[in-house]
Amino acid sequence: MKMIIIFYITFTCGFLENVISNVNPLPYEAIFNFGDSISDTGNDATYYPPMDGDSPYGSTYFKHPSGRMSNGRLIIDFIAEAYGLPMLPAYLNLTKGQDIRQGVNFAFAGATALNMDYFIQKKLIPPLTNISLSVQLDWFKKLKPSLCKNKQECDNYFRSSLFLVGEIGGNDINALILSYKNIAELREIVPLIIEEIINVTT
Ligand SMILES: *[C@@H]1O[C@H](CO)[C@@H](O)[C@H](O)[C@H]1NC(C)=O
Repeated sequence: MKMIIIFYITFTCGFLENVISNVNPLPYEAIFNFGDSISDTGNDATYYPPMDGDSPYGSTYFKHPSGRMSNGRLIIDFIAEAYGLPMLPAYLNLTKGQDIRQGVNFAFAGATALNMDYFIQKKLIPPLTNISLSVQLDWFKKLKPSLCKNKQECDNYFRSSLFLVGEIGGNDINALILSYKNIAELREIVPLIIEEIINVTT
């Protein structure tokens, strides 16, 4: 009985492992990611260089500070790995002539979906950064000429690229919480956040 159970467990785990490792990766040429700390692979750390005391970021996987708000890999790293693509370089960390054809990460820790103007106008505690979703989109637009040359080339390239927009919006809510807004007031901002995510995605 025991042996059967052990066999069963081994078989099941082995089977699942096979399924996972044999997943036929979709033929994405590149990944472009937008978001906040959940998926920032180094933009914030480049803009605001971390202090020595910020270890152990990266300690369990990279063994050195990796620009991530994590001791290991982020979900976006696993997504890139699963599609056989390199981990995304951070936009602000790109070096001249770097090959970016397999994707770039525009996510910025602390980023909000809505622009800084919104928080200032509403007299809220401002977010930690003004690198909102639309600023990240502007970065992408600025980079576009170095990704593809003409409409047809760009269409083909972006058609086979994976675009991830978010998670983002959590820091918008945080700004309201820090400003002592109540649940009803928090709810009011949700449609605005969603609208902005839709706009940028479109
Ligand atoms: C963000 O704020 C900085 C000053 O802290 C300013 O230099 C920069 O132009 C602002 N960026 C945007 C996109 O508003």
